[in-house]
Amino acid sequence: MSRKYGVLVGLAVLLSACQPTPTFLNPASSIARHESNLYMSVLIMALVVFVLVEGALVYILVRDRKREGDEEIPLQIYGNNVIEITWTAIPVFLTIALFIMTVQTARAVAAPASLTSDLNVQVVGHQWWWEFDYADLGFATANELHIPVGTPVQISLESVDVIHSFWVPQLAGKTDVIPGQNNTMWITGDKPGVYLGQCAEFCGTEHALMRITVFVDTQEDFDAWVANQQKPAYQPQTAEEQDGQKVIMGPCAACHSLDPSVTKTTGPNLAHLFSRTTFAGSTFDLNEKNLHSWLVDTQAMKPGNDMDLTITPKEIEALMHYLPKLK
Ligand code: CUA
Repeated sequence: MSRKYGVLVGLAVLLSACQPTPTFLNPASSIARHESNLYMSVLIMALVVFVLVEGALVYILVRDRKREGDEEIPLQIYGNNVIEITWTAIPVFLTIALFIMTVQTARAVAAPASLTSDLNVQVVGHQWWWEFDYADLGFATANELHIPVGTPVQISLESVDVIHSFWVPQLAGKTDVIPGQNNTMWITGDKPGVYLGQCAEFCGTEHALMRITVFVDTQEDFDAWVANQQKPAYQPQTAEEQDGQKVIMGPCAACHSLDPSVTKTTGPNLAHLFSRTTFAGSTFDLNEKNLHSWLVDTQAMKPGNDMDLTITPKEIEALMHYLPKLK
């Protein structure tokens, strides 16, 4: 390995240590805990079988190897009922145990019959970003899902284009997001925090940049967040801000909306853009520098995305006066 790559690998290891690890082995919900427990149980059973079988094999190979003065053909044995029954019975028993454990886990992670969640979220997959519609609460947002801690949330999933898969490993297993079919799942978050997810079905060139950030909020934080999302978008106070709003109402309006209640637009709802921490499928940190680079050349930052219009430098300047105010 060259020195340059050594440095890169070291940096990657260092950086990954700073990020919360999005794995179901580090569960933060009852669903993920069930899945993690099943995985560990199967792994331990498999390890025990592996060590016993391979250990017996190695022991017999060594003990009964051909030695000096041995007969040319060793003792021939035809069948042994005790051994035959034992090595049939043990796998049968293990398979039955696996079956029972799997069914129990599947039942536990399916929507509980008593689920009467107050919170329903419609997840809409787009190439390559996520729309989250809180229809009962009257607003839509993008890429960053907020849920209150300890509350089961009923999620419906649909796609406006191709098949995606919604996966936040620390909170729940993956569920496909299929055009023309409404799939459902439920999630809970046990402790407040930020959990990362990722589209888990190849859906085009930017599949890898179709990420999800889930904020498990305290009830207080969640209520405050909802109240803010329900407000109408910031109204321009200066001439520059007004020019920015005009650009959004003009060329941008083909794909984006400033009305928080508008859903299924080609691009994310912009009403409260800067209440989010990331953009473009939760790929980039949302700050003025990144947003400016995005407006100058979105295709360089995320090739193939639907935003393929050219915005003039004057329009970009106007947008930079207005967009960051959309808190
Ligand atoms: Cu959407 Cu992969």
